[in-house]
Amino acid sequence: THQWRGVIEEYRDRLPVDAETEVVTLREGGTPLVPARVLSAATGCDVHLKVEGANPTGSFKDRGMTMAITHAKARGAQAVICASTGNTSASAAAYAVRAGMVCAVLVPQGKIALGKMGQALVHGSKILQVDGNFDDCLNLARGLSEKYPVALVNSVNPSRIEGQKTAAFEVVDALGDAPDIHVLPVGNAGNITAYWKGYREYADPATGGPATRTPRMWGFQASGAAPLVHGAPVTEPSTIATAIRIGNPASWTLAEQARDESGGFIESVTDRQILRAYRLLAAEEGVFVEPASAASVAGLLQAAEQNRVDPGQRIVCTVTGNGLKDPDWAVAGAPQPIVVPVDADAAAERLGLA
Ligand code: F0G
Repeated sequence: THQWRGVIEEYRDRLPVDAETEVVTLREGGTPLVPARVLSAATGCDVHLKVEGANPTGSFKDRGMTMAITHAKARGAQAVICASTGNTSASAAAYAVRAGMVCAVLVPQGKIALGKMGQALVHGSKILQVDGNFDDCLNLARGLSEKYPVALVNSVNPSRIEGQKTAAFEVVDALGDAPDIHVLPVGNAGNITAYWKGYREYADPATGGPATRTPRMWGFQASGAAPLVHGAPVTEPSTIATAIRIGNPASWTLAEQARDESGGFIESVTDRQILRAYRLLAAEEGVFVEPASAASVAGLLQAAEQNRVDPGQRIVCTVTGNGLKDPDWAVAGAPQPIVVPVDADAAAERLGLA
């Protein structure tokens, strides 16, 4: 009767915990790495999806939150705070419950998906809707954590990066080595930073890493919120992918480091490309993700169309969050379901079976 124990227990020797640390976990991680047949055919490569929507609160944030909340609890914190486009707040709210802590979240008013708001509410966090964007929320959260006794659990907290690096470990453990290319959506840039740290540590002979190499890191931002692509903050970021609607990423220089040290790049994709990839993932790969998550796949397809993807490579795309978080986009523009009477012949006829 073995079950996955969560990222801290599974990777204890590679994380900043000791024997006495009381671990706060929902048994996050251990997520599926799913071969993507249609994307593989489209690129001539061996493409896999790291399905992070399978985490307990439906996004990759849980990997970082188990570590951040574990550390906050060890230091005796009674309250945590974060700014969020929705997923960090959902995760912080759930892990705070596990730790018996108060959780406060700051979200941009009207710009987070309903499912994520519902998570923060049902887990009992204190929600402030800020009349501003994510970047304003993060400034506010930082200021509050400096002045008041409340621990900041955004990815500027190094514990978050430590937890999130375990996703790279899992990819290597599943494939036997690092892929040639790892593709990610980029918002506040914590995750690309974390993956790169994980891949480097796992390929470091000094720490007995099982990988023989590191991948090139390809990051994609939404074109209306692409400060890393422009090389300057965006004051009014805009994209339908609300999770990555961020104009001034906190881990800016670390993301550039990941890009440059790995020989990768950070580019942008339009909302139209994001939605096309979102529908392709659901309709052709059977994987339902939230729009921001589809930016990685949209970026891979864009690079392939530009003939910048050499065939035969092994590529992993992280799809960061569950489609159920933001189902409006699944319903919008889809045909209305057909209404039928309780009658087999009528149902068969409507299904084209008769
Ligand atoms: N995908 C999803 C679903 C996200 O929620 C986020 C970030 C990202 C990608 C980008 O990751 O910020 O590490 O570059 N969401 C944060 C939040 C900002 O508040 O939930 P990143």
